[in-house]
Amino acid sequence: MRLNKYIAQSGLTSRRKADELIENGNVKVNGRVVTELGIDVQPDDTVEVNGSRISIERRMVYYMLNKPVGYVTTLSDEKDRPIVTDLLTDVSERVFPVGRLDVGTSGLLLMTNDGDLANKLMHPSHEIYKTYRAEVSGFLSDERINRLRKGVDIGGFITSPAKVKVVRQGKSHCTVEIQICEGKYRQVRRMFKAVGSRVLALQRVAEGELYLGRLMEGHYRKLTPEEVTYLKNL
Ligand code: URA
Repeated sequence: MRLNKYIAQSGLTSRRKADELIENGNVKVNGRVVTELGIDVQPDDTVEVNGSRISIERRMVYYMLNKPVGYVTTLSDEKDRPIVTDLLTDVSERVFPVGRLDVGTSGLLLMTNDGDLANKLMHPSHEIYKTYRAEVSGFLSDERINRLRKGVDIGGFITSPAKVKVVRQGKSHCTVEIQICEGKYRQVRRMFKAVGSRVLALQRVAEGELYLGRLMEGHYRKLTPEEVTYLKNL
């Protein structure tokens, strides 16, 4: 947003007067005096007028992204791999992912700048159930499926009961829908490993009642007000 608009939106003065303040050296952005008109500021920048900080109400935004394989959910990567925020090309707010998805996993990822909601959703006491579609190697016998349902040891941790549905059973691999309510590191892959199967492809298709639906890979959309209310009321 233009600096003069930012100053005007803070309620301090008009845009025209804001231009005068800027030209007269009365405005600092992130601690530095700015005298050029027309510079852009981000919602999180620090803007001071005559030594007093001004602010505009920070708008909370909520998005759902269909993360492609190959993108990392951290905000920087030491291996220089692409990061999920690169995909939100039209979003000026500093959003961050709610939780994580492995680099090799695709699918639903919530992104927001609402730290309170993100913290709530990531806290184990509010952990919402997540649904994954997994392509796994081998034949999944009823015995293995029941073990997954009851809970398996993934290395020092016994998973909670899960919902498991075989969508398609082939000879050498099958498609499974699995719903879990915890978010341990690489949990789905480790659960299948515990019953002797290997995950060949993994996609998160839903978080609670929020569904990826037809959102294409690499695309994102704003959550509807109803979806935001649903998350806030969890
Ligand atoms: N389980 C996994 O194994 N990977 C993910 O990204 C999410 C859940």
